[in-house]
Amino acid sequence: MNTIECIKTRRSIRSYNSQPVDRELLTKVVEAASYAPSWKNTQVTRYIAIDNKEVKDMICDNACPYPHNADIIRQAPVLVVTTMVRNRSGYERDGSFTTPKGKGWQMYDCGIAGQTFCLAAHEYGLSTLIMGIFDEAKVSEILNVPEDQEVCALIAVGYTDTNPDAPKRKTTDDLLKFV
Ligand SMILES: Cc1cc2nc3c(=O)[nH]c(=O)nc-3n(C[C@H](O)[C@H](O)[C@H](O)COP(=O)(O)O)c2cc1C
Repeated sequence: MNTIECIKTRRSIRSYNSQPVDRELLTKVVEAASYAPSWKNTQVTRYIAIDNKEVKDMICDNACPYPHNADIIRQAPVLVVTTMVRNRSGYERDGSFTTPKGKGWQMYDCGIAGQTFCLAAHEYGLSTLIMGIFDEAKVSEILNVPEDQEVCALIAVGYTDTNPDAPKRKTTDDLLKFV
């Protein structure tokens, strides 16, 4: 698959079959995602891969206020939680912010890493869904996320028998302006 095809055919998948995801394959996906660009190459994104049903269920039962997301996570063989090491991306060495965007750059970095993860997963035949609706404090507590990290997003990972169409995209006339 070439890059454009990979970008265009990746879909958010909300239905997974029971095929497990090999830990080695998931490691290869994270290795590929490690090539994502980041603020001064700070590489603040971390990945917690949950393939233990009990832990996944604990997150569904306690940290998913949106039942639709909980249903998806229960089905997916793996839930990846991305976290960000605090106080690096967007910061100077003395702890001050480099730009008016402040710590916003850490979400930017983690977003790029998340998309790179999803594209690499797609190349390896895996399906993914990024989820933003969850109880961050509860997820941190359940996973014992270290104090120096902040949870960014949840990503369901697995195999699917579905093939959803791409949701409609805005046209380049809407998106792009040349000056
Ligand atoms: C930051 C972010 C948060 C999202 N949160 C959710 C979510 O909580 N639940 C869900 O079903 N989809 C979620 N999505 C998936 C989007 O709905 C999906 O990417 C969008 O509809 C476009 O579809 P596509 O990914 O198949 O191109 C999220 C996507 C992003 C990037």
